[in-house]
Amino acid sequence: MKPTTSRLSRRVAGIGAMELAGLMRLAHDVGAIDIALGIPPGDPPAAAIAAATAALATGRNQYAPPEGLLPLRQLIAAELLRTRGVVVDPVDEVTVTCGATEGVLDAVLTVTDPGDEVILPEPFYENYPGVIRLAAAVPRPVPLAGPDWRLDLDAVRAAITGRTRAVLLNTPHNPTGRAFDEAEVSGLLDLCVEHDLVLITDEVYERYVYDGRRHVSPLGMPGAANHVITVGSLSKSLQMSGWRMGYCVASPELTAGLRRVHERTTVGAARPLQEGVSALGAADFTDDRALFQERRDHLVTHLEALGFDVRTPEGGWFVLAGTARLAARSDKLVAELVESAGVLLAPGTSFFTDRADGLSWVRTTFVRDRERTVEALERMRRFLPTGTTARQG
Ligand SMILES: Cc1ncc(COP(=O)(O)O)c(C=O)c1O
Repeated sequence: MKPTTSRLSRRVAGIGAMELAGLMRLAHDVGAIDIALGIPPGDPPAAAIAAATAALATGRNQYAPPEGLLPLRQLIAAELLRTRGVVVDPVDEVTVTCGATEGVLDAVLTVTDPGDEVILPEPFYENYPGVIRLAAAVPRPVPLAGPDWRLDLDAVRAAITGRTRAVLLNTPHNPTGRAFDEAEVSGLLDLCVEHDLVLITDEVYERYVYDGRRHVSPLGMPGAANHVITVGSLSKSLQMSGWRMGYCVASPELTAGLRRVHERTTVGAARPLQEGVSALGAADFTDDRALFQERRDHLVTHLEALGFDVRTPEGGWFVLAGTARLAARSDKLVAELVESAGVLLAPGTSFFTDRADGLSWVRTTFVRDRERTVEALERMRRFLPTGTTARQG
């Protein structure tokens, strides 16, 4: 008998299963409270539900144009103008994708050939290395500089090789909570222009920056034209991630290439849901910064009281908390918290190339409803050796 060979491509074999997925199954089985995933409690805008339902009932059930319904692209362009003062052409610079997840994959496929390198600030959103590998490109992690997770432009410069084609930056950042500042973002763009690279920015948390900060994007900066692909997500902005409503913004030249990829991956996001979101206007994008900032402060205070080391996030939906003072390895701590305390956190090991670098970190979200977070913190307090009760405030 012939020896069994794997039917999986080398590309797929090189992508591990998502660590959090196994923990989520366990958490479900034991009824643990999940404060690992960023899932806000709200409902989609009623107008979107009404318009999507009407589309389903009135025969608008076939393909939309692959690049997305024009009114939806016009809404995206109008929001970029309203919130950032950036002018983009909805006709040939905006493409609707199935979530930012497809947008990032399309962007990487658009600008890399097999074996090309993509520079990735580390820690990173856990999907990125797998997405880069799916494109047969190679992730080149560059550590963010501790203790405040700053982007080290000298380290980025040193990581550039003859095979580097792109840098993939997420801002505001999952998991660290950094909202990269003007000097970091414009410095990175300058490096990309100098070395003829494309800066792919994942800005799904663009609307969630705190303490009066402003979201900084390379889009619209001098030099951006053929060097930036910006990925966003209306389904994140509108807190309805299941609608899978992402988008890419880039120059007409990059967009033309990106649309070729998009047409061969998903062809397009679900038409009735595009109709639903197209019905919205500026007033439907609620400003939840104050609410989330208050939830952030509540979580940070109680995590610190429980013995975690926390840097207050500048943006996004997550806190990356250090476990050194608890003298606990994060993978073991997360497993114990699920089984014994009934609380699901994300282990820091998911966010680093070398698992060992993540053993002193866990990630939690502050966007869940207050009751759930308070109950999770209380369960942790009963389990962990230190700490005051979350119910006190
Ligand atoms: C940084 C980042 N990018 C992309 C996504 C996925 O976005 P979407 O649901 O629009 O695909 C997430 C989801 O957690 C994320 O944290």
